[in-house]
Amino acid sequence: MDTTIDQADFFKTLAEKSDGGALRGDYSLADAHYVVQQNWTAYTPAQHALWCKLYERQAKLLPGRACDVFFESLAKMNAADGIPDFDRTSDTLFKATGWRLVAVPGLVPDQTFFEHLAARRFPVTVWLRAPHEFDYIVEPDVFHDFFGHVPLLFNPVFADHLQEYGKGGLKALQLDGLKYLARLYWYTVEFGLIRSTQGLRAYGAGILTSGGEIEYCLASPVPRRIHLDVARVMRTLYKIDSYQETYFVIDSFKQLFDDTAPDFTPIYAKLKLLEPLFADSLLAGEGNISIT
Ligand code: PHE
Ligand code: FE
Repeated sequence: MDTTIDQADFFKTLAEKSDGGALRGDYSLADAHYVVQQNWTAYTPAQHALWCKLYERQAKLLPGRACDVFFESLAKMNAADGIPDFDRTSDTLFKATGWRLVAVPGLVPDQTFFEHLAARRFPVTVWLRAPHEFDYIVEPDVFHDFFGHVPLLFNPVFADHLQEYGKGGLKALQLDGLKYLARLYWYTVEFGLIRSTQGLRAYGAGILTSGGEIEYCLASPVPRRIHLDVARVMRTLYKIDSYQETYFVIDSFKQLFDDTAPDFTPIYAKLKLLEPLFADSLLAGEGNISIT
């Protein structure tokens, strides 16, 4: 294990990101990879009940909005009856695509995150939001991580893509390309849309765990919807405290895999010379995909 990650540095970055400073999770028991025990038996009945309410609300919003892969996988995950036991899902997932889930106290350093993905391990936060955070939460919790991200890991192509992303992250750290790669993650893994024969569908976890954005991203005339172009996405700023102003659309997960496969080194070099684009820009020649 690389021990060059400075914990103090990590907490400082996070303090700058989240107003209060303190991170929510309990990091005292984390190992060198920031992995903890899920301690499933410690969840209270009230927490399981809150999970069920979150799950039901979201499940109702999925038909006609979530992509098929998300639907099919969620059904296999048996997560409707309470906060799931990660180890059980992990075993099922491992048989499907060779990925495992690991429990973490919350956000982890970039390098750690990428190391997990590169080894086909997906970090899932152990704690659940409080009832007053039902609609909105600043840091990702177990509902976001599990409900939002795990279903797509059952798809072999997406599963391979996310591993490549992890390797690409470790490479980006060396090339000072992290902010560009983070934008790609944001606009795909968190807020991506995909075409289907029945129209646009959501596959991004940030959308699929949101009570409001899941409708907004597909039905509102306000945001832009643009075909994914990897370099263009990596040049685009994003908002973390409002619905997205632009969504990027892929045709298939194979497209996502193929378009992100080339060496990003020259793209990072080029992007460093360009001003970033605002989240709501539409460039000349870019089509805004119609939703009607
Ligand atoms: N191809 C990218 C690189 O060379 C790595 C990558 C793969 C990034 C998949 C994102 C997704 O850096
Ligand atoms: Fe996420």
